[in-house]
Amino acid sequence: MRILLTGGCGFIGSHTALALLEAGHEPVLLDNFDNSRRSVAGRLAAIAGRPLTVIEGDVRDTALVRAALSDHRIDAVIHFAGLKAVAESVARPLDYYANNVGGLLSLLEAMDAADVRTIVFSSSATVYGEPLCLPIAEDHPTGAINPYGQGKLICETILTDLARAERPWRVSILRYFNPVGAHPSGLIGEEPTGMPNNLMPLVIRAAGGKLDLLSIYGTDYPTADGTAVRDYIHVVDLAEGHVAALEALGRGERFGVYNLGTGQGSSVKQLLAAFNGATGVNVPQAAAPRRPGDVAAIYASTDKAGRELGWKAKRGLNEMCADSWRFAKRNDGAEE
Ligand SMILES: NC(=O)c1ccc[n+]([C@@H]2O[C@H](COP(=O)([O-])OP(=O)(O)OC[C@H]3O[C@@H](n4cnc5c(N)ncnc54)[C@H](O)[C@@H]3O)[C@@H](O)[C@H]2O)c1
Repeated sequence: MRILLTGGCGFIGSHTALALLEAGHEPVLLDNFDNSRRSVAGRLAAIAGRPLTVIEGDVRDTALVRAALSDHRIDAVIHFAGLKAVAESVARPLDYYANNVGGLLSLLEAMDAADVRTIVFSSSATVYGEPLCLPIAEDHPTGAINPYGQGKLICETILTDLARAERPWRVSILRYFNPVGAHPSGLIGEEPTGMPNNLMPLVIRAAGGKLDLLSIYGTDYPTADGTAVRDYIHVVDLAEGHVAALEALGRGERFGVYNLGTGQGSSVKQLLAAFNGATGVNVPQAAAPRRPGDVAAIYASTDKAGRELGWKAKRGLNEMCADSWRFAKRNDGAEE
């Protein structure tokens, strides 16, 4: 299949482009480089052994996207493009709704006009809000508590309606847990252009001396060691989940919502211990108060993705840490 990846030069999009190539599909990447670097194209080409098609443009430019869909004879779209910083979404909700909800609407209009009605959408575990039970399954009630999560829920609603329309679309909604890690080549990984707000990029900064200390937000949660528990998933596993979702749509699936996680919860302290074990680096750390809006623990039930997509995460915490660190060292000269 020929697949358009919006936000294809970002963290998850770039790894998915490689997974698609490996599975025999042809990715075409579209990105406005708001949160990624143009050098990603060259790095992908170095790994793939040939150049990939990369279009510079904004997903809100309906005419440009429509032309890209026709010019490249696209069969399906994976929609990664969007803004993703929760705190920033609270401060600048309009930017988030305009880019994330407005971006999806513009994309869908372009797809409709180009007769391309198959889409895989990047959603997030954040749509579950405060977990009522663990592990969390796809039928758990949703209830986002910030504009980023609200935007994801609005997008999910729009896509659910399209799957039931007179001319039905094929839709796969993927709720990611906590993507970390990097491609084993060390050439592509997570490169936030601003100050990161998720754990692994902060761990990397503290490990490389760019941050004095890693603040552990909350050491009094009702978890085994008092620190918050999350379901970290290697980005290459996540990328392979997209291939599985796309191929299920190709086999005739009409609509699906899937958690993409490992099903394993790890605390901040467990992640830091794994990082130390995998890299030999002891990350300087300090306890800090809980952050508003953070939940104590959340991890996925991955049964549905296993059953219906035949997909399961294979890589563990040590590999996630080793690969993240390799990428960081290779790209900014941080010392071991
Ligand atoms: N990384 C995570 O922790 C996580 C978790 C859950 C869901 N998600 C979702 O997955 C998707 C991809 O996340 P990521 O971690 O790869 O983020 P990322 O920021 O690395 O990638 C997103 C890419 O989209 C591009 N982009 C943003 N707005 C655009 C626009 N209007 N037009 C064209 N390109 C645009 C950015 O330049 C960037 O390259 C996002 O939708 C995000 O909300 C991410």
